[in-house]
Amino acid sequence: MSTWAIVVAGGSGERFGQRKQYLPLGGARVLDWALRAAGQHCDGVVLVVPADAAGESEPLATTVVPGGTTRSASVRAGLAAVPSDATVIFVHDAARPVPVPGVWERVRAGVIGGADAVVPVVPISDSLRAVGGGAIDRAGVVAVQTPQGFRAEALRSAHHGAPEGTDDASLVEAAGGRVVVVDGDERNLKITTPIDLERAELLCR
Ligand code: CTP
Ligand code: MG
Repeated sequence: MSTWAIVVAGGSGERFGQRKQYLPLGGARVLDWALRAAGQHCDGVVLVVPADAAGESEPLATTVVPGGTTRSASVRAGLAAVPSDATVIFVHDAARPVPVPGVWERVRAGVIGGADAVVPVVPISDSLRAVGGGAIDRAGVVAVQTPQGFRAEALRSAHHGAPEGTDDASLVEAAGGRVVVVDGDERNLKITTPIDLERAELLCR
């Protein structure tokens, strides 16, 4: 059984104000933390970077490929570089650098257990309100993280036809696949704005 990870780092960091994945964090770069975690849990790691960065050497990655204009397109670019004999594929955001114990193992166990897609989730602590008005019961929703894990064939077929989504499990679900949730971790935050990098600095020392 061969397990690969696609680490997506092809974004432009519009909300952050720059390419957050290349900023320094705890003696390395943000993306290095994600690559290290992927390398510890997989046989190979495909790193997806912005097209103009595809020539740069990335020793923590097995393969480096240029990304696309959307996250889903970047995942597809990575998927094309995953060996065809991979049976389990993880997709992980380079913008989630904080190492947390157990998440990769829980996700992998879900895939081995027969899920098409496995998603780490955390409860939402804020109360929620629809933009157009009206409360949303937070007990009925969870926040979705990465690494997400997939039966390789389920991920490949979910991406047929180049669909768009903010994560991959939702594409697998839309394609009729079986999605299982496991516990994520609150420390596994995604760096979206500069305050998130400050939070990550407290957790990556
Ligand atoms: N990503 C990618 N290719 C894209 C867009 C996003 O590989 N075309 C990656 C990002 O680099 C990041 C992950 O997907 O690691 C999650 O995306 P997000 O946090 O939204 O990052 P950005 O798209 O870079 O940020 P923004 O949406 O604020 O522009
Ligand atoms: Mg984005």
